[in-house]
Amino acid sequence: MLPYSCYEESAAAIRAKIGDFQPQVLMILGSGLGFLGDEVEDAVVIDYRDIPHFKVSTVSDHKGQLVLGKLQGVEVVVMQGRLHYYEGYTPEEIAYPVRVAKLLGVHTMIVTNAAGAINTAFRVGDLMLIEDHIRVMGESPLRGENLPQFGPRFCDMTTTYDPELRKMAFEKAKAMDLGVQQGVYFYFAGPQFETPAEIRMARAVGGDAAGMSTVYEAITANHCGIRTLGISLMTNMAAGILNQKLSGEEVNEAAERAQESVSALVRACLPELVK
Ligand code: HPA
Repeated sequence: MLPYSCYEESAAAIRAKIGDFQPQVLMILGSGLGFLGDEVEDAVVIDYRDIPHFKVSTVSDHKGQLVLGKLQGVEVVVMQGRLHYYEGYTPEEIAYPVRVAKLLGVHTMIVTNAAGAINTAFRVGDLMLIEDHIRVMGESPLRGENLPQFGPRFCDMTTTYDPELRKMAFEKAKAMDLGVQQGVYFYFAGPQFETPAEIRMARAVGGDAAGMSTVYEAITANHCGIRTLGISLMTNMAAGILNQKLSGEEVNEAAERAQESVSALVRACLPELVK
Protein backbone atom coordinates (compact mmCIF):
# COMPACT_ATOMS: atom_id res chain seq x y z
CA MET A 1 0.00 0.00 0.00
CA LEU A 2 1.33 3.39 -0.98
CA PRO A 3 0.80 6.11 1.64
CA TYR A 4 -0.92 9.42 0.87
CA SER A 5 2.46 11.18 1.01
CA CYS A 6 3.60 9.39 -2.20
CA TYR A 7 0.68 10.85 -4.13
CA GLU A 8 1.45 14.30 -2.73
CA GLU A 9 5.11 14.00 -3.73
CA SER A 10 4.19 13.01 -7.29
CA ALA A 11 1.72 15.88 -7.57
CA ALA A 12 4.26 18.34 -6.18
CA ALA A 13 6.88 17.26 -8.75
CA ILE A 14 4.38 17.82 -11.56
CA ARG A 15 3.23 21.17 -10.17
CA ALA A 16 6.84 22.33 -10.07
CA LYS A 17 6.92 21.94 -13.88
CA ILE A 18 3.52 23.38 -14.79
CA GLY A 19 3.30 26.47 -12.58
CA ASP A 20 -0.30 27.55 -12.12
CA PHE A 21 -1.65 25.46 -15.02
CA GLN A 22 -4.51 23.34 -13.70
CA PRO A 23 -5.65 20.31 -15.68
CA GLN A 24 -9.38 19.55 -15.61
CA VAL A 25 -9.55 16.38 -17.66
CA LEU A 26 -7.35 13.29 -17.46
CA MET A 27 -7.02 11.36 -20.70
CA ILE A 28 -5.75 7.79 -20.63
CA LEU A 29 -5.24 6.62 -24.18
CA GLY A 30 -5.06 2.99 -25.20
CA SER A 31 -3.11 1.08 -27.83
CA GLY A 32 -2.64 3.03 -31.05
CA LEU A 33 -4.48 6.07 -29.67
CA GLY A 34 -1.65 7.84 -27.86
CA PHE A 35 -1.08 10.22 -30.78
CA LEU A 36 -3.76 12.58 -29.38
CA GLY A 37 -1.19 13.57 -26.81
CA ASP A 38 0.97 14.90 -29.65
CA GLU A 39 -1.80 17.32 -30.60
CA VAL A 40 -1.91 19.08 -27.23
CA GLU A 41 -1.14 22.80 -27.48
CA ASP A 42 1.36 24.66 -25.31
CA ALA A 43 2.37 21.27 -24.02
CA VAL A 44 4.57 20.54 -21.06
CA VAL A 45 5.83 16.97 -21.44
CA ILE A 46 7.03 15.11 -18.37
CA ASP A 47 8.68 11.71 -18.58
CA TYR A 48 7.24 9.23 -16.06
CA ARG A 49 10.85 8.61 -14.97
CA ASP A 50 11.02 12.20 -13.70
CA ILE A 51 7.96 11.84 -11.45
CA PRO A 52 8.61 10.20 -8.09
CA HIS A 53 6.74 6.90 -7.59
CA PHE A 54 5.57 6.67 -11.24
CA LYS A 55 6.21 3.36 -12.98
CA VAL A 56 7.21 3.05 -16.62
CA SER A 57 5.23 0.85 -19.01
CA THR A 58 7.00 -2.03 -20.76
CA VAL A 59 4.63 -2.07 -23.76
CA SER A 60 6.75 -0.93 -26.72
CA ASP A 61 4.23 1.36 -28.42
CA HIS A 62 3.30 3.11 -25.17
CA LYS A 63 5.50 6.16 -24.63
CA GLY A 64 5.56 6.75 -20.90
CA GLN A 65 5.02 10.45 -20.51
CA LEU A 66 2.49 12.95 -19.24
CA VAL A 67 1.48 15.73 -21.61
CA LEU A 68 -0.15 18.76 -20.00
CA GLY A 69 -1.68 21.55 -22.05
CA LYS A 70 -4.82 22.45 -23.99
CA LEU A 71 -6.86 20.36 -26.39
CA GLN A 72 -10.02 21.91 -27.86
CA GLY A 73 -9.46 24.76 -25.43
CA VAL A 74 -9.69 22.42 -22.44
CA GLU A 75 -6.90 22.00 -19.88
CA VAL A 76 -5.91 18.36 -20.09
CA VAL A 77 -3.35 15.96 -18.73
CA VAL A 78 -2.74 13.12 -21.16
CA MET A 79 -1.14 9.85 -20.14
CA GLN A 80 0.80 8.68 -23.16
CA GLY A 81 1.38 5.15 -22.09
CA ARG A 82 -0.49 3.27 -19.41
CA LEU A 83 0.32 0.26 -17.29
CA HIS A 84 -1.37 -3.10 -17.58
CA TYR A 85 -1.83 -5.92 -15.09
CA TYR A 86 -0.34 -8.38 -17.60
CA GLU A 87 2.95 -6.46 -17.46
CA GLY A 88 3.23 -7.44 -13.81
CA TYR A 89 2.06 -4.22 -12.14
CA THR A 90 -0.39 -4.26 -9.26
CA PRO A 91 -3.84 -2.71 -9.69
CA GLU A 92 -2.79 0.00 -7.21
CA GLU A 93 0.25 0.86 -9.34
CA ILE A 94 -1.81 0.88 -12.53
CA ALA A 95 -4.31 3.34 -11.06
CA TYR A 96 -1.71 5.46 -9.25
CA PRO A 97 -1.71 8.35 -11.77
CA VAL A 98 -5.48 8.76 -11.43
CA ARG A 99 -5.13 9.81 -7.80
CA VAL A 100 -2.22 12.10 -8.65
CA ALA A 101 -4.47 13.72 -11.29
CA LYS A 102 -7.13 14.18 -8.61
CA LEU A 103 -4.62 16.10 -6.49
CA LEU A 104 -3.84 18.28 -9.52
CA GLY A 105 -7.53 19.26 -9.74
CA VAL A 106 -8.86 16.86 -12.39
CA HIS A 107 -12.63 16.26 -12.21
CA THR A 108 -13.24 14.13 -15.31
CA MET A 109 -11.42 11.25 -17.02
CA ILE A 110 -11.64 9.99 -20.59
CA VAL A 111 -10.28 6.50 -20.93
CA THR A 112 -9.95 4.71 -24.26
CA ASN A 113 -8.97 1.15 -25.07
CA ALA A 114 -8.88 -1.48 -27.76
CA ALA A 115 -11.27 -4.36 -27.18
CA GLY A 116 -12.62 -7.48 -28.83
CA ALA A 117 -16.33 -7.45 -29.68
CA ILE A 118 -18.27 -10.13 -27.81
CA ASN A 119 -21.64 -8.80 -28.94
CA THR A 120 -22.18 -10.23 -32.43
CA ALA A 121 -24.21 -7.17 -33.47
CA PHE A 122 -21.01 -5.10 -33.16
CA ARG A 123 -18.60 -4.57 -36.07
CA VAL A 124 -14.83 -4.11 -36.17
CA GLY A 125 -14.21 -0.36 -36.10
CA ASP A 126 -17.27 0.38 -33.94
CA LEU A 127 -16.83 2.47 -30.83
CA MET A 128 -18.49 1.24 -27.65
CA LEU A 129 -19.27 3.72 -24.91
CA ILE A 130 -18.73 1.81 -21.68
CA GLU A 131 -21.93 1.52 -19.67
CA ASP A 132 -20.51 -0.67 -16.96
CA HIS A 133 -17.82 -3.30 -16.46
CA ILE A 134 -17.40 -6.80 -15.10
CA ARG A 135 -14.14 -7.63 -13.32
CA VAL A 136 -13.75 -11.06 -11.81
CA MET A 137 -9.96 -11.30 -12.24
CA GLY A 138 -7.25 -9.25 -10.56
CA GLU A 139 -7.76 -7.80 -7.09
CA SER A 140 -9.32 -4.38 -6.48
CA PRO A 141 -6.98 -1.37 -6.72
CA LEU A 142 -8.64 -0.24 -3.47
CA ARG A 143 -7.55 -3.36 -1.57
CA GLY A 144 -5.54 -2.62 1.57
CA GLU A 145 -5.71 0.34 3.90
CA ASN A 146 -8.25 2.90 2.70
CA LEU A 147 -7.00 6.45 2.12
CA PRO A 148 -10.03 8.48 3.23
CA GLN A 149 -8.57 11.61 1.58
CA PHE A 150 -9.60 9.97 -1.69
CA GLY A 151 -12.86 8.27 -0.77
CA PRO A 152 -14.76 5.90 1.51
CA ARG A 153 -13.82 2.33 2.38
CA PHE A 154 -16.89 0.87 0.69
CA CYS A 155 -17.51 2.90 -2.39
CA ASP A 156 -20.66 2.81 -4.46
CA MET A 157 -20.17 1.60 -8.05
CA THR A 158 -23.65 2.29 -9.43
CA THR A 159 -22.46 4.95 -11.85
CA THR A 160 -18.78 4.18 -12.39
CA TYR A 161 -19.20 5.39 -15.98
CA ASP A 162 -21.11 8.67 -15.82
CA PRO A 163 -24.50 8.21 -17.55
CA GLU A 164 -24.78 11.85 -18.61
CA LEU A 165 -21.34 11.91 -20.18
CA ARG A 166 -22.17 8.68 -21.99
CA LYS A 167 -25.43 10.11 -23.32
CA MET A 168 -23.63 13.24 -24.50
CA ALA A 169 -20.90 11.18 -26.22
CA PHE A 170 -23.49 8.91 -27.82
CA GLU A 171 -25.32 11.87 -29.31
CA LYS A 172 -22.08 13.40 -30.59
CA ALA A 173 -21.00 10.11 -32.17
CA LYS A 174 -24.38 9.65 -33.85
CA ALA A 175 -24.31 13.20 -35.19
CA MET A 176 -20.83 12.50 -36.60
CA ASP A 177 -22.13 9.32 -38.22
CA LEU A 178 -19.67 7.11 -36.35
CA GLY A 179 -20.50 3.46 -35.69
CA VAL A 180 -21.32 3.72 -32.01
CA GLN A 181 -22.58 1.18 -29.47
CA GLN A 182 -23.04 1.11 -25.73
CA GLY A 183 -22.28 -1.87 -23.58
CA VAL A 184 -20.51 -3.75 -20.82
CA TYR A 185 -16.73 -4.10 -20.80
CA PHE A 186 -15.65 -7.52 -19.59
CA TYR A 187 -12.16 -7.37 -18.12
CA PHE A 188 -9.73 -10.21 -18.75
CA ALA A 189 -6.29 -10.11 -17.13
CA GLY A 190 -4.41 -11.28 -20.25
CA PRO A 191 -1.86 -11.14 -21.77
CA GLN A 192 -3.13 -14.10 -23.77
CA PHE A 193 -6.33 -13.50 -25.67
CA GLU A 194 -9.39 -15.31 -24.36
CA THR A 195 -10.46 -18.81 -25.29
CA PRO A 196 -13.72 -19.14 -27.23
CA ALA A 197 -15.25 -20.73 -24.12
CA GLU A 198 -14.27 -17.74 -22.00
CA ILE A 199 -15.89 -15.44 -24.53
CA ARG A 200 -19.10 -17.51 -24.49
CA MET A 201 -19.10 -17.24 -20.69
CA ALA A 202 -18.60 -13.47 -20.85
CA ARG A 203 -21.48 -13.15 -23.32
CA ALA A 204 -23.75 -15.31 -21.18
CA VAL A 205 -23.29 -12.99 -18.19
CA GLY A 206 -23.80 -9.77 -20.14
CA GLY A 207 -20.40 -8.79 -21.53
CA ASP A 208 -20.32 -6.90 -24.85
CA ALA A 209 -16.59 -6.33 -25.29
CA ALA A 210 -13.44 -7.99 -23.91
CA GLY A 211 -10.37 -6.04 -22.89
CA MET A 212 -7.28 -6.04 -20.70
CA SER A 213 -7.25 -2.55 -19.21
CA THR A 214 -9.36 0.34 -17.91
CA VAL A 215 -11.19 -1.18 -14.94
CA TYR A 216 -8.56 -0.37 -12.31
CA GLU A 217 -8.37 3.24 -13.42
CA ALA A 218 -12.18 3.51 -13.53
CA ILE A 219 -12.63 2.04 -10.04
CA THR A 220 -10.03 4.39 -8.61
CA ALA A 221 -11.50 7.42 -10.40
CA ASN A 222 -14.95 6.55 -9.11
CA HIS A 223 -13.61 6.17 -5.57
CA CYS A 224 -12.10 9.67 -5.57
CA GLY A 225 -15.04 11.35 -7.29
CA ILE A 226 -13.67 11.73 -10.82
CA ARG A 227 -16.38 11.26 -13.51
CA THR A 228 -15.44 8.76 -16.21
CA LEU A 229 -16.21 8.52 -19.91
CA GLY A 230 -14.97 5.18 -21.27
CA ILE A 231 -14.61 4.51 -25.00
CA SER A 232 -13.70 1.07 -26.36
CA LEU A 233 -12.65 0.60 -29.95
CA MET A 234 -13.62 -2.77 -31.43
CA THR A 235 -10.37 -3.89 -33.06
CA ASN A 236 -11.53 -7.45 -33.67
CA MET A 237 -14.37 -9.85 -33.07
CA ALA A 238 -13.56 -11.71 -29.82
CA ALA A 239 -12.12 -15.22 -29.88
CA GLY A 240 -14.25 -17.92 -31.47
CA ILE A 241 -16.77 -15.59 -33.13
CA LEU A 242 -15.09 -15.74 -36.52
CA ASN A 243 -13.30 -18.77 -37.83
CA GLN A 244 -9.88 -17.19 -37.44
CA LYS A 245 -7.11 -16.69 -34.90
CA LEU A 246 -6.37 -13.41 -33.13
CA SER A 247 -3.07 -11.56 -33.23
CA GLY A 248 -1.68 -8.57 -31.40
CA GLU A 249 -0.56 -7.13 -34.75
CA GLU A 250 -4.09 -7.31 -36.12
CA VAL A 251 -5.37 -5.49 -33.03
CA ASN A 252 -2.74 -2.76 -33.36
CA GLU A 253 -3.39 -2.31 -37.06
CA ALA A 254 -7.14 -1.99 -36.51
CA ALA A 255 -6.48 0.56 -33.75
CA GLU A 256 -4.30 2.57 -36.15
CA ARG A 257 -7.01 2.50 -38.81
CA ALA A 258 -9.65 3.77 -36.40
CA GLN A 259 -7.51 6.53 -34.88
CA GLU A 260 -9.44 9.19 -36.73
CA SER A 261 -12.87 8.27 -35.41
CA VAL A 262 -11.73 7.94 -31.80
CA SER A 263 -9.82 11.18 -31.92
CA ALA A 264 -12.73 13.01 -33.58
CA LEU A 265 -15.14 11.80 -30.89
CA VAL A 266 -12.78 12.65 -28.04
CA ARG A 267 -12.24 16.13 -29.48
CA ALA A 268 -15.97 16.69 -29.88
CA CYS A 269 -16.67 15.62 -26.29
CA LEU A 270 -13.89 17.57 -24.60
CA PRO A 271 -15.54 21.02 -24.48
CA GLU A 272 -18.69 19.43 -23.04
CA LEU A 273 -16.74 18.08 -20.09
CA VAL A 274 -16.02 21.49 -18.63
CA LYS A 275 -19.52 22.96 -18.93
N1 HPA B 1 -9.53 -9.48 -25.99
C1 HPA B 1 -8.94 -8.78 -25.00
N2 HPA B 1 -8.35 -7.61 -25.19
C2 HPA B 1 -8.37 -7.10 -26.44
C3 HPA B 1 -8.97 -7.78 -27.51
C4 HPA B 1 -9.59 -9.04 -27.28
O1 HPA B 1 -10.14 -9.70 -28.17
N3 HPA B 1 -8.81 -6.98 -28.60
C5 HPA B 1 -8.14 -5.87 -28.20
N4 HPA B 1 -7.88 -5.94 -26.90
